[in-house]
Amino acid sequence: MPEHLVAYHREGEIALIEIDNPPVNALSAAVRQGLAEAMVRLAADPEARAAVLFCAGRTFVAGADVSEFGKPPVAPILPDVITGIEASLKPVIAALHGTVLGGGLEVALGAHYRVALPGTRLGLPEVTLGLLPGAGGTQRLPRAIGFEAAAELITSGRQIDAEEAERLGLIDVLADETDPRAAGLTFTRGLLADGCGPHRLSERASPAPQPDRVAGFRAEVERKTRGQVAPLRALDTLVESMGMSFAEGMAHERRAFRDLMQTPQRAALVHAFFAERRAARQEDLAGVSACQVDRIGIVGGGTMGQGIAAAALIAGLQVTLVERDDASADRAMAGIGKMLDGAVKRGKLNADTRLQLLAQRLQAAADYDALSNVDLVIEAAFEDLAVKQEVFRTLDRVCRPGTVLATNTSYLDVNLIADATGRPQDVIGLHFFSPANVMRLLEIIVADRTPPEVTATAFALAKRMGKIGVRSGVCDGFIGNRMLSTYRAAADHLVLDGATPYQVDAAVRAFGFAMGPYQVGDLAGLDIGYATRQRKAATRDPRERVPVFADRLAEAGRLGRKTGRGYYIYDDAAPQGRPDPEMEAVLNGIRRDLGITPRSFTEAEIQDRYMAAMVNEGAKILDEGIAARASDIDVVLLHGYGFPRWKGGPMHWAEAEGLDRIAARIQSLAEDDPYFWQLSPLLARLAAEGDGFADASKQKELT
Ligand code: 3HC
Ligand code: NAI
Repeated sequence: MPEHLVAYHREGEIALIEIDNPPVNALSAAVRQGLAEAMVRLAADPEARAAVLFCAGRTFVAGADVSEFGKPPVAPILPDVITGIEASLKPVIAALHGTVLGGGLEVALGAHYRVALPGTRLGLPEVTLGLLPGAGGTQRLPRAIGFEAAAELITSGRQIDAEEAERLGLIDVLADETDPRAAGLTFTRGLLADGCGPHRLSERASPAPQPDRVAGFRAEVERKTRGQVAPLRALDTLVESMGMSFAEGMAHERRAFRDLMQTPQRAALVHAFFAERRAARQEDLAGVSACQVDRIGIVGGGTMGQGIAAAALIAGLQVTLVERDDASADRAMAGIGKMLDGAVKRGKLNADTRLQLLAQRLQAAADYDALSNVDLVIEAAFEDLAVKQEVFRTLDRVCRPGTVLATNTSYLDVNLIADATGRPQDVIGLHFFSPANVMRLLEIIVADRTPPEVTATAFALAKRMGKIGVRSGVCDGFIGNRMLSTYRAAADHLVLDGATPYQVDAAVRAFGFAMGPYQVGDLAGLDIGYATRQRKAATRDPRERVPVFADRLAEAGRLGRKTGRGYYIYDDAAPQGRPDPEMEAVLNGIRRDLGITPRSFTEAEIQDRYMAAMVNEGAKILDEGIAARASDIDVVLLHGYGFPRWKGGPMHWAEAEGLDRIAARIQSLAEDDPYFWQLSPLLARLAAEGDGFADASKQKELT
């Protein structure tokens, strides 16, 4: 037995089987082997009358070992190990704590009884990895808690707490101990005293789904998980197998699991899982200590300042917000209060804590001196270099030495902002996304003079605030907004050349984004892009194509949702927006003025250009070292720009699609517009050599 991973001890007549495979006790091949051997030992141990199965460390088994996915399976496979546990003639009690997920919950369902510590969370998140439960979850869970509850948990991947698990009958006892071993022993002693034997879920009859309810539920799953294969396959497998014997159901599940394992969606979702965790790993920060951050300052209490303040308060930080005047400070306070209200409604905060945070942890003022004692400041004032430089000059004066000075700028040069201070070494960019209290992405912009301690502090803050920090170098728009500018320009060119904004939006949605670029534009407000174009007009390269139609809309006061009209019309009949019947005529007028003969585009052509522009810019960003790894770019697009997770992010998608095909497409588009479609040298090289982006990543661990 791999003793160090699965240990077998005995306490009196109770065997203790302990899994110890940090960090999350994933079911690697060695753990599966260890578990199988432990069951053999239990059967042969004359002193043992029952066994407690529990885990060391912070959690019970959190699932199969995801890093083994896509590789040939190694025996013993998990369904067989669990069958072995369930077949035991001596009762096996799973003592649960932490996150009991996927294969971990399936192991627990194979045991004869389940006892959980308070705070335990349980779930079958396989669909979030493009899979379905592959070790009996689709068979044992419905037998434990009924068809409908099981179908909901399996198709959503939702995690539940121990109280809900108890109500559903998923666990037998919610223990009041703090140690799983002790809880398991207490429960098992009682069980033996009562003379209880094994209870096997596989021996229960399968529940029968009601066909009329299944149809409705299926339609709902289809709507909620649009574009994804795993949730519907999971539901169908469940429904089909409920009429089968347990053994046939297991075989049916296995076939579906193997099929899904081979899908590009599974590969993309697993890529996303590891990319998110890899983003925090920074080789140059190994051994570097972050500064302690407990008190933060925020300058500017508008949309972003309020969201950042709410997120910081929920993370337990003390917040001091500075606005231009008392009225603005009061407005910001009220806005933050509302955001915390929302958190209470979503169950993220309780009402008492909300009041306490507002009364004791938040202060809003119109005086910068209030920032004299904070550990880190985030500036979220207007997007104007002169305004930001003035703010930073003031911060330089009032903040104590060593305070980290961060800007939330969307596009501006962090080095120029740092120049306004006498301590550029304290300056960094922290680019939050709107709404900042909800969005998990945080771009960490490391400027030329930002030292490792300040970068490490930013990553530590991201973690504390529950954000995914992704490192970026300085350039116009950093990783995300720079890419957005490019693929948005590709969309604008399509509209100039003959597509409608509605066709572009529909094609982008069909690709998997929740919204198209013109819907997003209407939401953000068309004045922002207009102001940016005006600012850049003087220095614009004459070869750059200007979206004249966007300027016309803004000049006509059609600023998007906030004015009831933008690309779409928003009224009582269509609060979510409806196409403007006059748009085509307006566009044709502009095309005539520009001498463009409109042409039609297929959905595939629109998607092709949109994605080619995105990937090409991503390759340039990687080549220039703005992003250190292709997977970081994927994380930014997944978490900040609505890229469909089941496609893994643009760089992963591009590799799956074939870099040579994309490079060839860009070269052919360059024949008509050589200025816009300049092929990234990196993309050209990788396409020619048959390499992937990972090979080009600047950090060794990616390869
Ligand atoms: N397999 C392999 N590695 C895993 C893993 C898994 N199932 N779960 C987590 N890890 C690794 C992470 O990659 C990370 O590694 P790193 O430190 O080298 O980056 C480390 O464990 C810690 O993970 P987190 O940073 O995510 O730690 P948290 O404490 O934030 O979260 C967790 C812990 C809630 C368990 C979270 O890691 C998680 O959700 N894991 C995935 C759970 C899951 O999806 N399980 C189902 C797998 S599919 C399955 O079981 C199929 C079965 O039906 C046959
Ligand atoms: P906003 O206009 O809603 O808020 C700006 C606030 O800053 C206003 O309340 C204003 O009174 C205050 N302010 C201006 N100058 C100030 C000064 N000298 N001292 C104190 N307060 C001052 O703007 P928003 O949208 O919150 O944006 C702020 C920054 O965040 C900008 O740099 C923007 O580019 C960036 N950003 C915005 C995002 C968004 O989606 N709105 C997303 C990510 C970044």
